[in-house]
Formats: sequence, structure tokens, C-alpha cells
Amino acid sequence: MPPISDPNVLVGYSTVDDAAVYRLSDGLALVQTLDFFAPVVDDPYSYGAIAAANALSDVYAMGGRPLTALNIVCFPRSGLSKDILTEILRGGADKAQEAGCVIVGGHTVDDSEPKYGLAVTGLIDPHKIVTNAGAKPGDVLVLTKPLGIGIITTALKAGLVSEETARRVVAVMATLNKAAAEAMTTVGVNAGTDITGYGLVGHLVEMLQASEVGATISLAAVPVLEETWGLLAEGAISGGTHSNLEFFGREVAWAPAIAQKEKLVLCDAQTSGGLLMAVPKDKQERLLEELHRVGVETRAVIGEIVDGPPGKLAVLP
Ligand code: CO
Ligand code: CO
Repeated sequence: MPPISDPNVLVGYSTVDDAAVYRLSDGLALVQTLDFFAPVVDDPYSYGAIAAANALSDVYAMGGRPLTALNIVCFPRSGLSKDILTEILRGGADKAQEAGCVIVGGHTVDDSEPKYGLAVTGLIDPHKIVTNAGAKPGDVLVLTKPLGIGIITTALKAGLVSEETARRVVAVMATLNKAAAEAMTTVGVNAGTDITGYGLVGHLVEMLQASEVGATISLAAVPVLEETWGLLAEGAISGGTHSNLEFFGREVAWAPAIAQKEKLVLCDAQTSGGLLMAVPKDKQERLLEELHRVGVETRAVIGEIVDGPPGKLAVLP
């Protein structure tokens, strides 16, 4: 891609951030992002809701407010009932409505495997953009959803997951990062991103590289969905998770006590994961209180930013 020279592009693709930001005036900017993928669960309504929550998440990760969205749909012309498509779109529309975002159109193409997602446009105050580049030594790292989503959804396809865990993982993925983002912007943080395909380690390393700082996290402090460890033992690992460990693992100093399966969970590719925030230590309590107040269930302090080698992560037991 050619470099961007427009001065109104406040966040482009050069910094590996969650969404692009374009300044309209001194006090107002657009946030834009696009995400779509193949089904992660069987139920079409849930799939639509999850895909929408996931696409909206990149706007929330920047501290923005979604305004409008366009459906992106791939669906086979024949072989699948149109009722399935109706349910996918209904799930997406309900989730967008919950976000206060209006779906104003979209486009469908014929494809053998269904895919669905949104192109989202939001608004943001250009002075309050939360990027992944502002983390400072001493900041505390807070995560707002548990890990294990990739392992559980992989196991779901193999029919290995209990009904209760299946319901739980769908609920976690379909939960908007709206409330977490509201707490984030109310309190004010130095950096933020959402945890998706690159896993906790990948998205954290990207934050460290962009911010030119290091970090230390503690495995014991990282929330992990129930059943994840057992399903991992049964071999439920996506290809993306292996690539994440191979690629981002190079930037990690693993304590000797960290086992291979634990590394895989920390690198597990998430769908619609939580927000990861770097908050100044003196605002930590306020952020945790605010997250609690707005109803964010998972509020895990997992580690801290250090003045270490830039882009490097240390993982302790
Ligand atoms: Co993102
Ligand atoms: Co994205």
C-alpha cells in the first residue's frame, strides 16, 4: 500500500491500530473499520450477533461511538435455505441496534461458504483517540473478557463442548465492548486495543511495539474460560493460534514454568475478545470501579508496562 499523505488521516494503516481515524473538524473525526468472517457457531442468529459485535469492537477499542454500518455478506445462491441468511442478518441488526448503530445498507455476493460482517463508521473526538501507541512504563494492564474463545469454538465444531460452555462462549463473544469502552473513555487510559485474531500475546506485543515499551504479565492473573484447558488437551487448537505462537512468541521471554499448553492459551486466536487497556497506576482503582459500575463482568489486572526492551513481553507463572 502506498504511504498516506493526507494530514486529516489521524490514524491510518501504518501503526497496526484497530480502526482508521479521519479528522472532519477540530473537534470531530470519523472512525472506520471493517471485519467479516465465516461462521464460528452453528446457530445463524448467534453468528450474526457475534460477527457484528466483533466488527463494532474496533470502534470501541479506539474510544469511538459507532453510528452507521453496512452489511458485508457472502452466501451460496443455492444449497442453503434463505431463512439462514435472514437469521444471520437479524442477529447482526439486533446487535447493531444494541450498540446504538444503524445498519443502512450492504452488499451480498454468491459464495460457497457463508461469511458475514460489518463495515462500521463511528465518531470520535480527535483529542481523545485511544491508540495502541501510548502505553507508558508503570501503566497497569487490564483485560475485560476471558481467553479460550478460539479453543472452545474449535472444539465446538468437533462436538466436544458441553451445552453450558457453548452457551457461555456465545454470550462472551456476543457481548459488546461498548460498556468497557465507556469506562475506558470516562477514566482515560494511555493505550487500548481489542483482543482478536492475534490473541492476547499478539495484540499486546503490537501495543508494546507501537508504544516502544516492554511489559510483564502473570499467567495466573489472566482469566480463562472454563473447560478451555481440558479441550486443549483434546487437541482443539486453531491453525491461527499456532501461527500466533510461532510469530509473536519470538518477542516473549517465557518463565521456565510456563508449559506449552499455557503458551497456546495466551496466543489463542479470539473472536470478539475483550478490550486490553494500559491505564496509569493512579487511575487503576477508578477504572476497575467504573468497569464494575457499567456491568463489565471480567476486570482482570494481568500485568504492567515496564521500561524494558521495546516490544518485548515477559510472561511469569
Ligand atoms: Co482490533
Ligand atoms: Co479488526
